[in-house]
Amino acid sequence: TLVPVILCGGIGSRLWPRSRASKPKPFLPLVGDSTLFEQAIARCPAQAGFDAPIVVTGRAHLDHVEAQLGKDDGARIIVEPAARNTAAAIALAACALPEDAVMLVCPSDHFIGKPDAFREAANKAASLARDGWLVSFGIAATAPETGFGYLKRGEPIASSDGQPGFRTAQFVEKPELERAKAFLAEGGYAWNGGIFAFRVGDFLRELEQHRPNIAEPTREAVASGTWDGRRFHPDPAIFAKVESDSVDYAVMENTQRAAMVPVDMDWSDIGNWHALHEAQERDGSGNSALGRGEVELVDCHNVLVDSDGPRVSVIGLENVVVVVDGDDILVTSVAGAQKVGKLKGALNQ
Ligand code: GDD
Ligand code: MG
Repeated sequence: TLVPVILCGGIGSRLWPRSRASKPKPFLPLVGDSTLFEQAIARCPAQAGFDAPIVVTGRAHLDHVEAQLGKDDGARIIVEPAARNTAAAIALAACALPEDAVMLVCPSDHFIGKPDAFREAANKAASLARDGWLVSFGIAATAPETGFGYLKRGEPIASSDGQPGFRTAQFVEKPELERAKAFLAEGGYAWNGGIFAFRVGDFLRELEQHRPNIAEPTREAVASGTWDGRRFHPDPAIFAKVESDSVDYAVMENTQRAAMVPVDMDWSDIGNWHALHEAQERDGSGNSALGRGEVELVDCHNVLVDSDGPRVSVIGLENVVVVVDGDDILVTSVAGAQKVGKLKGALNQ
């Protein structure tokens, strides 16, 4: 069994004003007609050998998740009583599954242009995970991004059924810029795509070893939890005690059993307006338009306009993003896109 575990937290504040608390990034149709969440679910269909997914989310996102999951096809939803970051979110799913199940942990807010390549890598990763490896998807690193984890490629390995991968010689979560630059210069590093394959028993053992303050209360909260249809509610009082940390720091940086599967799947974490622009279909001048509003661009290059209604007209600009959403208007250079999450508008939604 290969169980997709879809993580749905966060707001995506760097995509403000389009993404905001009331309609966060995973639930918007940012690339193509379906939302990133719908695409994450659709990438793991039963006919390709996946089990029904488990979605882990908080109350704030529950309505969106239920609306976009659609009909009851066996999917289950774990409702976090409080946000405790990804180590605990994954542990909740692990505690609800048998020891021998293999989880494929997937963020709900990424774009993947080649789903077939994703599924091929998922099968390799699952085989390695069955043999006890904690497997990350490795994405070719093309810039010294500081918002990603880095995987240093180690010796080649193979699963008992012959699937290839590499040992992860070192896992470094979100390095400083200088260190990220050094990794690129040295070569042999990949970005961590944030997609993992874990055998449940192995993941919980590693978590217990490195972060008992996450593993133990999470296990107890699940043991005392209650079902309500397809929703599962862990015990809130017990879950409140769980330490908050990401799986990258809590487990992946510490385990001796880290492995990676390199994958070329046209991946983007759509982390900001620049990345979203790159993922769009663009015209010959590199311009693209999103949303319902009419857009007129004259003598523009590499301009992205997203309007939820008003007509937007731009003349003679390069490398600019214009977003209109309700009463909010954002105009930024492509280079400024990283700073959007710190704007007052994005912080005080
Ligand atoms: N359910 C739940 N609960 N989901 C969560 C929580 C939580 O408390 N916190 C985060 N998530 C979800 C996010 O919605 C996202 O889909 C995924 O887990 C990853 O969390 P991020 O907060 O987006 O992590 P990141 O982008 O800083 O870093 C991770 O992803 C990078 C690739 O995009 C790391 O794994 C990096 O190493 C990696 O390079
Ligand atoms: Mg992210």
